[in-house]
Amino acid sequence: MPEFEEKERFVLRNARHLAADYLRRVLREGDTVIDATMGNGQDTLFLCELVGKTGHVYAFDVQQEAVDRTRERLTQATVAQRATLILAGHETMAEHVTQPVQAVVFNLGWLPGAQHAVTTLERTTLPAVQAACELIVPGGLVTVCIYPGHPEGRRELEALQEFAASLNVRKLNVLWHRFLNAPPHTPQLLLIQRNE
Ligand SMILES: C[S@@+](CC[C@H](N)C(=O)[O-])C[C@H]1O[C@@H](n2cnc3c(N)ncnc32)[C@H](O)[C@@H]1O
Repeated sequence: MPEFEEKERFVLRNARHLAADYLRRVLREGDTVIDATMGNGQDTLFLCELVGKTGHVYAFDVQQEAVDRTRERLTQATVAQRATLILAGHETMAEHVTQPVQAVVFNLGWLPGAQHAVTTLERTTLPAVQAACELIVPGGLVTVCIYPGHPEGRRELEALQEFAASLNVRKLNVLWHRFLNAPPHTPQLLLIQRNE
């Protein structure tokens, strides 16, 4: 995964790279984390590497294809035992993961290369991000990469902006990253960190 190599000098590149950079700073070997959108498993693998042999990743997706692709990727990297792959919507994460976690990672949108475009939806993304805010430990981080270049992505962006702005600053710090001089469809990044 050269995309996420640790030795790389920091470059202000895109929302996904920014999220990875923050996650590298927050996560430690032995941590428990959630990948809320498994997809092709790139993020799941990245998280498995960050939490190491003693950590664990719970990963969610609604498509069997995503679970299969991710299992294959993790198996090839010999880290499959570090992850539990769950075929269910991320809005149910609190039913599957009852212990506190150090991070919850969302990469919204659809599965690249899949035959049927199943995209994340505002009506399930919002409760999932809400649940994530409840599951993280103090210092824990929720990262959400948002793709406003399609109508549902735009709806997610607007709903998340309203939700995130309403969060209690004594409990959660919220930071929004947006490339100001880029086209309006450019992906954006929401970060939420628990401070108590
Ligand atoms: C952009 S892809 C994720 C990319 C992935 N993180 C990777 O590294 O390859 C978004 C994924 O979200 C999944 N998805 C859609 N609705 C979902 C839901 N309610 N819960 C969990 N995953 C969902 C889609 O099936 C798709 O695979």
